[in-house]
Amino acid sequence: MIYDYIIVGTGVAGLSAARYLPLDKKVLIVCKKSPWECNTFYAQGGVASAVDHNDIELHVKDTLVAGVELNDKKAVQTLSEHSIDAIKDLMNSGMKFDLNDKGNLAYTKEAAHSRNRILHADGDATGRELHMFLLKNCKHEVVADSIVIDLLYEDGVCHGVHLLQNGKDRIVYAHNTILASGGVGSIYRYHTNSTTIAGDIQGICVEKGIPLKDMEMMQFHPTVFLDTPNARKTLLTEALRGEGAQIEDEEGFRFLQKYHKDAELAPRDIVSRAIFDYSQRTGSKIYLSFKNFSKRFFKKRFPNIYKNFMELGFDLPFERVPISPAFHYSMGGIDVDINARVKGTKNLYAIGEVACTGVHGANRLASNSLLEGLVFSKICVAFALKEDFKIDFKNFNKIKKHFILQKAGDKAIKNALRNLMWTKVGIVRINQNLIDSLDEINLYLNEDIGRLLFLRLLTAKSIIKSAINRKKSIGAHYIKEI
Ligand code: SIN
Repeated sequence: MIYDYIIVGTGVAGLSAARYLPLDKKVLIVCKKSPWECNTFYAQGGVASAVDHNDIELHVKDTLVAGVELNDKKAVQTLSEHSIDAIKDLMNSGMKFDLNDKGNLAYTKEAAHSRNRILHADGDATGRELHMFLLKNCKHEVVADSIVIDLLYEDGVCHGVHLLQNGKDRIVYAHNTILASGGVGSIYRYHTNSTTIAGDIQGICVEKGIPLKDMEMMQFHPTVFLDTPNARKTLLTEALRGEGAQIEDEEGFRFLQKYHKDAELAPRDIVSRAIFDYSQRTGSKIYLSFKNFSKRFFKKRFPNIYKNFMELGFDLPFERVPISPAFHYSMGGIDVDINARVKGTKNLYAIGEVACTGVHGANRLASNSLLEGLVFSKICVAFALKEDFKIDFKNFNKIKKHFILQKAGDKAIKNALRNLMWTKVGIVRINQNLIDSLDEINLYLNEDIGRLLFLRLLTAKSIIKSAINRKKSIGAHYIKEI
């Protein structure tokens, strides 16, 4: 059997694409573990959108300023122009965003936005609410525990995917393949991502010669609580700062004012780098303080953070929380055109964080990622339906291999990789460290390792190579001259 569409990933981009695919299409959606193990589920802050047509120009400008104009301007324009309809479309189908006292949409502010334009749901659980809405309304087949270990790709045509489903090989042929598998979080020691997000698909792309772009552009979220045993570290949403939370040192000094006129509301890369620099120079711990909030307001506006931090032993908003930057989002990814089709291919698409539409440039503007997933999934599906590409799987000649997912020595190398990425390919980069990292990765690649680690290493290698090739600092890619 040949599916019309296979979608890899059940985050906002994948589920939203499924929503636009008509029921007479045979569609299979696969995810690595459970459908909610994706970054969308954990997104707190919200969905950015132009508030009205008059706001498009400013939303575009804010996105370009945050991205240091490395963005693809056409993609940014498309994102903002489609944002109002994307939100209306969701709300008309029953998605509920928070309202203010007057019953209007409660737009909030986040860093580097010139005005309030972020929609949120259940206060600080926007991703979870959006994910639940999309999953509940998903009319196509979703299969969990399915790891994509290869793409059936040859000469610009993707014939589907090779899965390990519940540990068994399964080949799925599809006329169109939509990759929506997310970024690379788990290759960093400290990150805010779902543990399923590890850059495997990007690794397959390296192997197959499918183009990647801007891979050095890794975003570090400034306000993350690291002191938990979980691999995924606990985010303190940027919306907290939008509503008045402050970053301070041990003495309560708001040092960010020394780094940027907008202090806590400067673009994310600047805030993360300032925290890194200040704590390195002074040795001070850094905190997020909520002293501007009343308890009543805090509990209502950030109910999940209130509850989660209560369980971690913090009485918010009265206590401050120690914070650090941690890896959060990959701006780079699979190089796609304005219709989300992977460049140089006929029927392979990429949407959401796995893709590089060019929307984010060198640093993503807060809350533009859920929006990107919504907007480009719709564009992608409309285009693919019109193209109506059909594979002839008899033409697919590549030998399908059996892969061993994991091997005995993988864990030690995986941890070494995560440390290496954090210390040498992180917030501040030194050219010689990047060169040394590449050598180290090449050594690991020569070890007897499992398929998943092999793919992660290929992804890491492409990030490092891109970082070495970009000689000048820009946005999230910061090279320290020594
Ligand atoms: C946050 O809530 O701070 C994260 C939002 C985002 O990554 O855009």
